[in-house]
Amino acid sequence: MNLLSLWQRARRKAPDLPDAQRADRLLFSLFLLAWAVEARDPYTGGHLWRVARLSRLLAETAGLAPQEVCRITIGAFLHDLGKIGIPDAVLGKKGKLDGDEYAVIKTHPEIGLRMLAGHPLAALAQDAVLLHHETPDGRGYPYGRRGDDIPLVARIVGICDAFDAMTSTRPYRTGMPVARAIEIIESELGRQFDARLGQLFVGLARHPELAHIVGHSDAGIPLERCAACGPIVVRPRSAKPGDTLYCPACHSEYTIASTSTGLLATGKRNTARALAASPDTDLIERVVGECLPGMDHCSV
Ligand SMILES: [Fe+2]
Repeated sequence: MNLLSLWQRARRKAPDLPDAQRADRLLFSLFLLAWAVEARDPYTGGHLWRVARLSRLLAETAGLAPQEVCRITIGAFLHDLGKIGIPDAVLGKKGKLDGDEYAVIKTHPEIGLRMLAGHPLAALAQDAVLLHHETPDGRGYPYGRRGDDIPLVARIVGICDAFDAMTSTRPYRTGMPVARAIEIIESELGRQFDARLGQLFVGLARHPELAHIVGHSDAGIPLERCAACGPIVVRPRSAKPGDTLYCPACHSEYTIASTSTGLLATGKRNTARALAASPDTDLIERVVGECLPGMDHCSV
């Protein structure tokens, strides 16, 4: 059944909403679900936006049809949904995980699949959510699938997720330069990463548009720098000079400078306000708007 049929069926149940409005509200609710992970994990500000943006770019470069680009963007935004079920002690651990902790992390794709179940658009995201840690050499998880047994969407999201993890700064380590991350992807072509798509991604790394994604949390908005933890503070597009922002890791308080970019430290910490995350509904609306044109032809 394609999306249009799904909406037409839903319309018979609620005839007062036009199809287009229902479609974009369904997609909005799916992305809102994904944002729960962004709110829980203090170290991944902007990760969903970056992985969605990189995946869209790679899908377009691979010459995929608009409905596939749409499905891949949605899958990329949702891919880590299951991390909502991972305990803080593991999700927020600074440094290497031990064997038991790694076993816990490896449950997040299946947790994500269970959380998606029942959403009317679950089929659009389930391959990315369940299979983004599978690798062509069969050493990935949860099933150890190989090569083309891994759906295209999961191979694309797997590359973009790994690249973003390597190039993003955490409070306990600085993000790797793009050139080094690209070397690692090149060295793992055909093993950790799909050879053809990975090669395309390597070509994209010299693309000027990539520089506007790395280290950003939204189009044109770089991550702001916490003096102690590095560039991990998300500045919402709606934030104005004088507004208060908090480092999600150390909870230091900053105000947005009035005349230039950057933050001014107030010298205070406010854990309660730093932890009071809220979804960036503006950003979600824009990602919904980018996906809608391809959705009429998506099968669900
Ligand atoms: Fe993941």
